[in-house]
Amino acid sequence: MNDKQILITGATNGIGFAAAEALAALGANLAIVGRSKTKTRIALARIRAAAGRGATVATFIADLSSQASVRRLAAEVLARYRKLDVLVNNAGAMYGTRQLTKDGIELTWAVNHLAPFLLSNLLLHRLKESAPARIITTTSQAHQGARIPFDDLNAGRSYRGFGRYCETKLAKFLFTTELARRLDGTGVTANCFHPGLVATGFNRNNGLLMGLGMTILRPVSRSPEKGAETLVWLATSPDLANVSGVYFFDREQRPPSPEAQDTGTARRRWEISERQCAVRSSTR
Ligand SMILES: NC(=O)c1ccc[n+]([C@@H]2O[C@H](COP(=O)([O-])OP(=O)(O)OC[C@H]3O[C@@H](n4cnc5c(N)ncnc54)[C@H](OP(=O)(O)O)[C@@H]3O)[C@@H](O)[C@H]2O)c1
Repeated sequence: MNDKQILITGATNGIGFAAAEALAALGANLAIVGRSKTKTRIALARIRAAAGRGATVATFIADLSSQASVRRLAAEVLARYRKLDVLVNNAGAMYGTRQLTKDGIELTWAVNHLAPFLLSNLLLHRLKESAPARIITTTSQAHQGARIPFDDLNAGRSYRGFGRYCETKLAKFLFTTELARRLDGTGVTANCFHPGLVATGFNRNNGLLMGLGMTILRPVSRSPEKGAETLVWLATSPDLANVSGVYFFDREQRPPSPEAQDTGTARRRWEISERQCAVRSSTR
């Protein structure tokens, strides 16, 4: 992996951190994105300690809830790297209460869906120039049963933390399938995966009761290293060079929910996301 440049978000904790460690151990050149300088510095030291021969690790700071911050991140990445082989959209969170970002977007939607949408679109030409290249997105089995609330996109009428989280995971899913369609023939693939139930920092930001719930689930949860296995495989396996628009769990292709397979919904959501991010995609 010495000749591969990989950018990974949400690499300061959980699945993203475990994936970054594993990819660095394989000798990849990593660019990790964190929002806290301190946590990112600590992650950097630990990833460097695990790194294999020839690996390099660089850091970028960005708060993915802010579109200005995502734009700054993309500009810094483009200025630094002439070649980008893999983009991993991994960062994500669930929020128990409805909050709006500086951009006026509901926070879960902003972090889980619009940030990967915007970042991928802003980096797309560099990925195409670097083809063969890959875009990998961490989604969740929680997308099953969810629908995109086109008439209440900002969750102003109704908000339930987990329900909203599931909607954003469906949105990430639809993003992947539409992106794969648009990238057909470019040499850039787009796939997504479910990591399983993983013992991480996930849902530890929603108060004591939720934290207790996550602690109770620990014995039936997998380790971050196990949760990261499919991500690492998607980033590295030569077998996947021509595989795109696919949903994986434990390295196996899985059927997405019927809603996630609706190409009309995928296209509509894409166009709305373009407007929400004030970005015009270079793909059609
Ligand atoms: N854990 C599970 O069971 C599970 C299951 C299915 C899917 N997933 C998905 O897996 C992905 C990784 O989650 P995880 O389980 O590893 O949780 P985690 O331990 O909480 O890690 C989440 C990562 O995302 C980062 N992040 C969150 N909000 C951000 C923001 N506004 N700007 C920049 N970075 C931000 C966090 O940064 P900080 O370190 O600064 O907080 C952290 O590095 C998420 O997309 C999640 O939805 C998890």
